[in-house]
Formats: sequence, C-alpha cells, structure tokens
Amino acid sequence: MTDTLTAFAQAKLATLEAQSLKRSLTPTHRLDGLWVERGGRRLLSFSCNDYLNLSHHPAVKAAAIAAVQAHGAGAGASRLVTGDHPIFSELEARLAALKGTEAACVFGSGYLANSGIIPTFVGEGDVVFVDELAHACIWSGAQLSQARIVRFRHNDMQDLAEKLAGLRGEGRALIATDGVFSMDGDIAPLDKISRLAQAHEAWLLVDDAHGLGVLGEGRGTAALFPDARIDLAMGTFSKALGGYGAYVCASAPVIDFIKTRTRTLVYTTGLPPANAAAALAALDVVAADPALAAAPLAKAQRFTRALGLPEATSSVVPVVLGEAERTLAAARALEAEGFLVVAIRPPTVPAGTARLRVAFTAGHPDEEIDRLSAAVRPLMAS
Ligand SMILES: Cc1ncc(COP(=O)(O)O)c(C=O)c1O
Repeated sequence: MTDTLTAFAQAKLATLEAQSLKRSLTPTHRLDGLWVERGGRRLLSFSCNDYLNLSHHPAVKAAAIAAVQAHGAGAGASRLVTGDHPIFSELEARLAALKGTEAACVFGSGYLANSGIIPTFVGEGDVVFVDELAHACIWSGAQLSQARIVRFRHNDMQDLAEKLAGLRGEGRALIATDGVFSMDGDIAPLDKISRLAQAHEAWLLVDDAHGLGVLGEGRGTAALFPDARIDLAMGTFSKALGGYGAYVCASAPVIDFIKTRTRTLVYTTGLPPANAAAALAALDVVAADPALAAAPLAKAQRFTRALGLPEATSSVVPVVLGEAERTLAAARALEAEGFLVVAIRPPTVPAGTARLRVAFTAGHPDEEIDRLSAAVRPLMAS
C-alpha cells in the first residue's frame, strides 16, 4: 500500500504535470563555458549564467586546483569555528575595495546570504519593502525575518514612494531589490530607490548577482548609479565569476554584526577555500581586461536589435511567450536547431509570462547569435 507521504507527492506531481509545470533535472555536461552536452547532443548554451565563460578559464581553474591541493576540499567547519581560512579575508578586502565599502563578508551561496542577512536587520514590528520581481532568496529572507512584507510594483517608484509613506511605521525598514533582475534582465533605478530610502529612513539591500562582472566595467550595477547609497551590497561568485559563493559589502560595524549574528553564516560550514581562490582569480581576469565585462551586453544587444525587442540592458534577455506549454515547445524547437535555451515557467516567473530566458556570454560567436535570432523569430510570431 502507498504511504500517505508518497500519495501526497504523487497527487501534487500529477497536477503539475497536467499544467506543464512539473520540473525535472537533466544531466548536462558543461564542456567549456559555452557548449554543453545533453542526452548525447552537443548544444550551444544560452542558459548559463557564466557570462564571462570564467568557469572554464585556465587561470580560474588553476587557482581552484592549487587551492584544493594546498588547503583540501572543504572548510571543515563553520567560519566561526575553524573554517575561516585566511583566503576569505583576502577576498573580502578585495570585494570591499571593488565596491568602495569598509568591509565585506563571504557567504556559502547567494541564497544563504539573502536569507540570512535580511533577518539580521529587521524582525517583528519592522517592515521590508520588496520589488515584486526580486529573487526568491530575498523573499525567503523577508519571510524568515518575521517583519511585515510589503511588495511594491516592479521598478515602480511611485508605488514604492506611496507604500513607504503609508506603511513605513515606527520600526526599522529595509528596501530589498535585485540590481539586475534575473528573469527580466532589466535594471533597478538604484539612484531613485536610494533617494526614497534616505527620505524614509529605510535601509537598502541590493542583490547584484547578475550585475557583478558585467555592468559598470565589471564593478556591478551600482557603478552605473554613483550617487546611490547602498547599505548592503550583495552579490554572488556564481554568475559572471563562474564559480560559487556570495558576498555582502557594507560598513565595518554592519559586517562585524553580520559575522556575529547572521544564522546562515554562523550555523553553516564555510565555503570551500578553493571557491574563494577561484573567485579571486576571476576578479583578476575581469580587472585585467576591461573589454571583457562589456562583451555580454553587446552580444545581448545584437540579439535584441535583430528581433526588434526592447534594447538589452544586461546579459539577460527575456522572450516572453506566455503559456508554459508554448514555451516548452519553443525550447524544444531551439534544441532541434542546436541551441539550449531553457523554458522558464511559473512560479519562477508570474503566471502567464513563461519565457525563453536568453543569457549571453562574452564568448558567443556573433554568427551563432544571428542564427539564434533567426530561429527565435518564428517562435515569437506563432
Ligand atoms: C538575483 C539572484 N540572487 C541570488 C541568487 C542565488 O545565488 P546562489 O546561486 O549563489 O545561491 C540567484 C541565482 O542563483 C539570483 O539570480
């Protein structure tokens, strides 16, 4: 007889399957930062966040390998116990200098960073204002904080201003947004958000997972808004830097407090030192070649120009097709042409906005982008 947990899972899966919303893992060999192998086929990927192809850069791989040889495969404990390898301090100093802050803290992942940082600064009686399209881990952090969560319309400054004015209340307040929105590729108006934050004595957290290494000569989205005051500048090593791990940059006391109290730092094993070594090597590559950071955006703009889409502002371009089934069919059609462009469906994106999320990297050949544009054009019309 089927136990009740299994029956529960089966029923849920059947419902999702009927809505084309069931997901499954597909083993994929990433061959070189551009090409992947899936089901025995070689496909050109437009779905990796490896915007600078650094996951396979010789210097980045060599740094990781050398660090494994020297320091082992894992951190061995929480950073607060014995897992704080000196390479983390080196990386934190490097990130703070890059972001122009006093200090930084390295985390195991972006999800851990946001879900831990938000509850460190707001709680019951406080308010957290979140852009409706902010990444899932910002929402997790907001929910864990037990602060009141106020969702504002995507990049809508009037809505944010009204909500701040009406709901700011007595307690502390935090505004949380992505810098580059992961599924839409557009950019938050950080200058305006920062002004509103200051006017309403709210703090500002910006998740720049998709801006670091790509925008502002590699320094990230905030570099496009030099006057913006960002209290918590968070980002990851998992996108343009090609590795894994995350950081937040802030004032020295804020970072000290995070290192003392943030549960997703204190109660979790430190990042393997090799990931920090890879991130340092990747930052070196970005610093040494200013043209590299600009390349993914130029490639994305080639695609948006070819298809008459709104001009790309980051390396991510959404081609919104609407229903999940149509989007899955479009992804299959592109796969038949040799392209990997994964269909993104609810709940990752709002209902009715399933899309092809096309991610451009520095290494994508122009002629392949043109071939992709030609393959996508009929899918947009059908
Ligand atoms: C905007 C944004 N923030 C955070 C994350 C989570 O980062 P990580 O993969 O390091 O957990 C992601 C995606 O993975 C993201 O797109």
